[in-house]
Amino acid sequence: MIETMNLTKIYNPGTPREVVAARDVNIRIDDGTITILRGPSGSGKTTVLSMIGLILTPSSGRILIDGENVTRYSDYWKALYRRMNVGFIFQHINLLPGYTAMENVLIPLLCLDEDVLNYKNKALELFKRLKITERVGNLVQQLSGGEQQRVALVRALVRDPKIILADEPTVFVDEETARIVFEMFGELRDQGKTVVVSTHDPRLIKIADRVYTMEKGTVVREQEA
Ligand SMILES: Nc1ncnc2c1ncn2[C@@H]1O[C@H](COP(=O)(O)OP(=O)(O)OP(=O)(O)O)[C@@H](O)[C@H]1O
Ligand SMILES: [Mg+2]
Repeated sequence: MIETMNLTKIYNPGTPREVVAARDVNIRIDDGTITILRGPSGSGKTTVLSMIGLILTPSSGRILIDGENVTRYSDYWKALYRRMNVGFIFQHINLLPGYTAMENVLIPLLCLDEDVLNYKNKALELFKRLKITERVGNLVQQLSGGEQQRVALVRALVRDPKIILADEPTVFVDEETARIVFEMFGELRDQGKTVVVSTHDPRLIKIADRVYTMEKGTVVREQEA
């Protein structure tokens, strides 16, 4: 279980560019559930998701993972934790230009003490499911936005992480692909994985276990299925 307690993020504190992007956010994410963050642009969804993913350090407040306050743990610990447990799908996709779709999936695995090629079949299976098998050998900068988003999904899911954090993962893909992605998220939940998604898509909201609505950095509404 992941819980946040009074999680707050202030960018550029004490300067004229100061932004309170998240203020006293308290959310609870149970294992084996789908949790949604929604809210208008600029309401703090990416900021909160990045803090939960231990990518962004909070200004104050705490993140508890299975009751353990991990906020003060070292960057090294956080990096290891992410590597072992988290698949993150970035809003801005963040693929490595100059490499193919398959290389983008396999390169992050090079730091593991395992044979990367063991993951190739799993990657191909995911590429197939997302219907871009014919693009695996193409350079990512030559792919369409929707294709790049699917590569990012494969990259995040290839190691079968127990926590999936997805920041607007379907904004660039078509209706049919979005349906497949949501179906995959549903299956991951059924396997006991924890899925947290920033999205406005009513189809995913319909199957979610808990929905948090954010406005101006605070949670204004919590709905349970
Ligand atoms: N690195 C940063 N430095 C300064 N301000 C930032 C930074 N990142 C985000 N912000 C500001 O924090 C607020 C929340 O941003 P965030 O990206 O979390 O919103 P969001 O809900 O994900 O929006 P969107 O739906 O457009 O993706 C915004 O007002 C944004 O301008
Ligand atoms: Mg965002």
